[in-house]
Amino acid sequence: MKNSVKLVGFVSLLMYLLSGQAALAQHKTVNDGVFTEAQVTSGEVVYESQCSTCHNMRFYTDTLKSWNNQPLLYLWESIMGTMPADNPGSLMLQEYTDVIAYILSENGFPTGDAKLDPDNGMDIINIQSP
Ligand code: HEC
Repeated sequence: MKNSVKLVGFVSLLMYLLSGQAALAQHKTVNDGVFTEAQVTSGEVVYESQCSTCHNMRFYTDTLKSWNNQPLLYLWESIMGTMPADNPGSLMLQEYTDVIAYILSENGFPTGDAKLDPDNGMDIINIQSP
């Protein structure tokens, strides 16, 4: 009886340590090169034609500030669901992703080798205030 209680305690300690390690290894921010140069280039085209008429870059900078430490995926979902305001959801998923890469790049965040992908890890990339 005593031994099995000890075992349960040991196993949960082990799980706690393992999950802590996993969270540390996965956690990222927009400072970690989470989008590619190619995404920035195609995002600029989308931005110029679909996003620059109603807000200027200052507005996006303020948006990033107010989303500080929130997962990037939430911003992506919010933009996809509500923008462009005169025709929400009208862009392809990839265009929404690329336009975010462009906005991040314009706000000084670095490109990298990894492609920004809403199906892969964007929930654990946190926005940082530019
Ligand atoms: C027809 C005008 C219009 C266009 C085009 C447009 N928006 Fe907006 N956008 C708005 C309005 C209106 C709001 C809400 C009011 C505000 O915050 O100024 C808004 C709000 C936002 C926000 C703030 C969301 C938040 O929760 O903080 C973001 C980010 C945004 N738009 C991104 C985009 C992107 C990216 C595009 C291009 C795909 C785009 N918008 C195109 C009118 C527009």
